[in-house]
Amino acid sequence: MRIGIPKEIKPLEGRVALIPEACGDLVRDGHEVLVGRGAGVASGFPDGAYAAIGARLVEQPQALYAEADLVVKVKEPWGEEPDWLRPGQRLFSFLHLAADPELVVRLLTSGVTALAFETLEHRGGLPILAPMSEIAGRLAVQIGARLLHAPEGGKGLLLGGLAAAEPGAVVVLGAGHAGAAAVRLAAAMGARITVFDLDPDKLRRMDEIGPQVTSLYPFRDSLERAVGAADLLIGAVLVPGARAPRLISRPQVAAMGAGSVVVDIAVDQGGCIETTRPTTYAAPTFLAEGVVHFGVTNMPGAVPRTASRALCASLFPWVRRLARADWQAEPALAGAVNVEQGRLVLPALRSV
Ligand SMILES: NC(=O)c1ccc[n+]([C@@H]2O[C@H](COP(=O)([O-])OP(=O)(O)OC[C@H]3O[C@@H](n4cnc5c(N)ncnc54)[C@H](O)[C@@H]3O)[C@@H](O)[C@H]2O)c1
Repeated sequence: MRIGIPKEIKPLEGRVALIPEACGDLVRDGHEVLVGRGAGVASGFPDGAYAAIGARLVEQPQALYAEADLVVKVKEPWGEEPDWLRPGQRLFSFLHLAADPELVVRLLTSGVTALAFETLEHRGGLPILAPMSEIAGRLAVQIGARLLHAPEGGKGLLLGGLAAAEPGAVVVLGAGHAGAAAVRLAAAMGARITVFDLDPDKLRRMDEIGPQVTSLYPFRDSLERAVGAADLLIGAVLVPGARAPRLISRPQVAAMGAGSVVVDIAVDQGGCIETTRPTTYAAPTFLAEGVVHFGVTNMPGAVPRTASRALCASLFPWVRRLARADWQAEPALAGAVNVEQGRLVLPALRSV
């Protein structure tokens, strides 16, 4: 099997799907591995590291797509990439199709079989999404704390506070992988946090972090009260495969007051806050209702040295299985198929 690892072309995306060590194991399995020139550089892996383990470096991205039977990449096909996909080929990457009807049409037209990292379920969890969500959760607090600084357009607040100066108030929507990571880091920084989730077990785990964390069920009134008093609002809810539920309206964002900050991690699934829209690291923020918004859809792309290793470790066993002719016998892979040779397969996408 020819396995292609293209260089990511989404603006300022530095991750690579498979690091050289993983490619080495695929070569030892008997596969031919094609790697886009420069694909690993931003993650600390020069072209020579791929060549040394027996991968073939490919200059032209279009040529890599033409040759590969299986394309493994990080972000959804971007720019011209969907035009290069073809029938009989497998694509394995983040797709987030519920937020992107245009990409759905382009994938259907291409005839490719596309499996999404974020819809691969195993033992009741999403093993490929989880480490990226944990990174995004921590980044949401790091970035949110910085956006609260006055020179960044924020209200001029040190999130963790100080003796004689109250800490900032953080509201986190969702206590899954991203939300819990955000709560833990915000708590360690000294902020006051209110976290919402539907799942009582997750609320209990958040409550155990310490007295600075309040965990609540998302009743409309409770949400409204907490968000109205928040300096930093972080969106991190997920209904797997589906568009994110809208939990916070524009007037509720306006009530946060000028210079407050919104980081909607769930923007890749359409966002859980009405004022959210997708951005890239090239122009990551915008103002809505006087509130600074951050809507980058590939947050871990900013820390490729960390994220590529973590992603590859969770991805590799599935790539190895997907490279086999009988891959559909593995229920987790069969269930991760979103689009199959011109057919929309994932039930949650039927309404897109
Ligand atoms: N922007 C980025 O770069 C980036 C990176 C990684 C993950 N993400 C996104 O972050 C989001 C969260 O991912 P995750 O891995 O943490 O998911 P997760 O499944 O681990 O957690 C989601 C949580 O949301 C809760 N939830 C669902 N509906 C809710 C509701 N109506 N009210 C309150 N809570 C609700 C669930 O109970 C669950 O605990 C996803 O959309 C994911 O795609 C974005």
